[in-house]
Amino acid sequence: MQETGEGFLTLPATDAGDPTLNWSTIFGNDQPVEIELGIGKGRFLLDAAERLPGVNFVGVEWAAKYLRIAQHRAVRRELDNMRFVRTDAREFVEFFLSTGSIGAYHIYFPDPWPKKRHHKRRLFNEGFLREVERTLQEEGRLWLATDYADYFDVMLEVLETSRCLAVVDGEWVGAKTNYEDKYIAQGKPIYRRIVQKIPQ
Ligand SMILES: C[S@@+](CC[C@H](N)C(=O)[O-])C[C@H]1O[C@@H](n2cnc3c(N)ncnc32)[C@H](O)[C@@H]1O
Repeated sequence: MQETGEGFLTLPATDAGDPTLNWSTIFGNDQPVEIELGIGKGRFLLDAAERLPGVNFVGVEWAAKYLRIAQHRAVRRELDNMRFVRTDAREFVEFFLSTGSIGAYHIYFPDPWPKKRHHKRRLFNEGFLREVERTLQEEGRLWLATDYADYFDVMLEVLETSRCLAVVDGEWVGAKTNYEDKYIAQGKPIYRRIVQKIPQ
């Protein structure tokens, strides 16, 4: 059983057979699946799910309080193309997603962990990117935004190590998140990147 109702997914044990999620079973259709890692209260994902009913969206968030707020809003807006998971984003991608199963990842304003001794806690590193590459479909996209210049530089360095992702030029139509609004109101620059998996 992978779903507990009300759109919350429960994850299978990783030591009992294949733990990867079957999106066709979970959503009851074969629509593409897009994932946001660290959804906060879910503003981007809720808007995207409403705008794009032909896409399935999964929100991953560690903080139960935020996830519950996002889920309540999805129920109120009668969005049946959304599911929520309370877990660690890195473990979710590594253990529960099968190869080539994801149409897009959205990562907006991930915690920057500014202190040097905490950098190892950052989500975006080479190991994580290898898992994103593995799980993206061909031509699948990774959308990134941060207000934190130092972390963005690290993201760019990590992206340089990729042999299968290429930068997509063009208009940003990605995030409109609570944090984005807050940082724009504070006059902070926002750093963004879209990359796409090149067919091999
Ligand atoms: C700065 S907030 C940004 C929220 C949202 N993306 C936005 O732009 O408004 C970062 C979010 O990521 C969540 N988060 C941090 N580390 C996480 C992890 N390892 N797994 C899942 N969620 C995480 C935090 O709880 C928080 O809600």
